Amino acid sequence: MLQLVYISTARGPVTASDLQRILGASRRNNGRDGISGLLFFDGVRFLQALEGEEAAVTTAFERIHADPRHSGIVVLSRREVATREFGRWAMASRTALEGESAMLERVAALVADASPMVQATFTSFAEVRRKAA
Ligand SMILES: Cc1cc2nc3c(=O)[nH]c(=O)nc-3n(C[C@H](O)[C@H](O)[C@H](O)COP(=O)(O)O)c2cc1C
Repeated sequence: MLQLVYISTARGPVTASDLQRILGASRRNNGRDGISGLLFFDGVRFLQALEGEEAAVTTAFERIHADPRHSGIVVLSRREVATREFGRWAMASRTALEGESAMLERVAALVADASPMVQATFTSFAEVRRKAA
């Protein structure tokens, strides 16, 4: 199974309904294609992990790569995993109702089964944004 982690930058302001649209399409397509993963949005940048059969992940990533809603896509990690590290597909972002530490806890829980490197990538991404805010 292939696991891919990338970072990208939103091209313009992203509203809650934009995020809901991305989430809706992702749940639908990724469910159909046997892809699990996590998408984290910090208000400016996206950090996403995708995992599944190599052909399915490659096809999804090509589609995502061509999406005009973001640019500057950089693959942080691309590796074979024997078992899924993200059991289901989820999207996390800081919600207006949630405190910073609650968001960090939620992200930590979502990456609990991931490799130490992938865990660190997501938790430090969330942490850096918290400090910068
Ligand atoms: C940051 C970001 C992450 C995305 N992640 C996914 C994803 O995991 N799966 C997916 O199918 N589409 C994802 N999309 C949306 C795709 O780029 C594309 O719009 C969608 O797959 C088209 O699906 P549709 O033809 O069913 O409407 C993402 C888009 C963005 C901007």
